[in-house]
Amino acid sequence: MDLGLRGKTALITGGASGIGQGIAQVLAAEGVNLAIASRNPDPAVIDALRATGVRCIAIPTDVSQEAQVVAMVEQAITALGQLDCFINNAAWIWRQPVTQIDAAAWSNTINTNLAACVWACREVAQAMIARRQGSIVIIGSTARFTMAYGEALYRLSKVALHSYMQNLALEMAPYGIRVNMVTPGHFKTRMTGNIPAAVEDQLRGLIPAHRFGQPTEVGNAVALLLSDRVSGYTYGADLVIDGGLSLQPLPLFAADEIYSLNLPTSHTNKQIRV
Ligand SMILES: NC(=O)c1ccc[n+]([C@@H]2O[C@H](COP(=O)([O-])OP(=O)(O)OC[C@H]3O[C@@H](n4cnc5c(N)ncnc54)[C@H](OP(=O)(O)O)[C@@H]3O)[C@@H](O)[C@H]2O)c1
Repeated sequence: MDLGLRGKTALITGGASGIGQGIAQVLAAEGVNLAIASRNPDPAVIDALRATGVRCIAIPTDVSQEAQVVAMVEQAITALGQLDCFINNAAWIWRQPVTQIDAAAWSNTINTNLAACVWACREVAQAMIARRQGSIVIIGSTARFTMAYGEALYRLSKVALHSYMQNLALEMAPYGIRVNMVTPGHFKTRMTGNIPAAVEDQLRGLIPAHRFGQPTEVGNAVALLLSDRVSGYTYGADLVIDGGLSLQPLPLFAADEIYSLNLPTSHTNKQIRV
């Protein structure tokens, strides 16, 4: 299906690695011209995106700095002519147990994961309101639903981001500007790169689909939400892309028990034990 995105423009933060790169690849394949912002956008990634035939510029930016965020949006609009789409994706995890959280981890997390989005959306929204059109997707995390030791600050930032997304959606809707969230589960990227293999195996076991996601699978979800043709009446939605990770079952029945009931030979008189 033609999503109707060809010739549109998009700014993606953190778009040169991991999930952001997956989003950029999908949008480039849909014919979207791109601005990629991060502290050190990999030139090879930018070249590869250009090789697909779209325009792609890199905007070196530290999104934890408000002034740099303002300049980033201005530069993207100047270079691309206008901004049809904004994807707030850049984030990082500073792991500390709750008894040791320090001011540096707090300000790094809040500035990079939350304030950056608030500043960027403020600037982007002003430009979009002037044109009475635009679409924004904020990347969340299933960290909102599942806790993890040492990751309280990251989770806090993603919970806040979801609330902010809904309020932004509310305030932008009268102008025809749609704001939505895509919430990834677990993906192998730089951010999750230091997880030991044995822990990864355990983690995979918790995912009903029994595999980690591919960054382009988040990209596909972002493209659907950006598309007015597909999602023209979708405001403030949260699309979870997690292979079922957030559907954690209580241990009432074993998965094997259900699988055996679903085997072709198991039609007659089989019940879940009570
Ligand atoms: N991986 C997962 O399992 C997972 C799960 C749920 C949600 N997510 C979310 O997905 C998004 C992307 O994460 P990822 O997993 O793809 O990790 P990643 O590959 O490490 O990407 C993070 C990106 O953010 C950029 N970034 C970090 N700090 C920045 C700063 N201060 N200024 C500008 N850019 C900055 C990085 O670029 P530079 O280093 O060049 O600045 C990088 O491109 C994040 O919002 C994350 O919370 C990831």
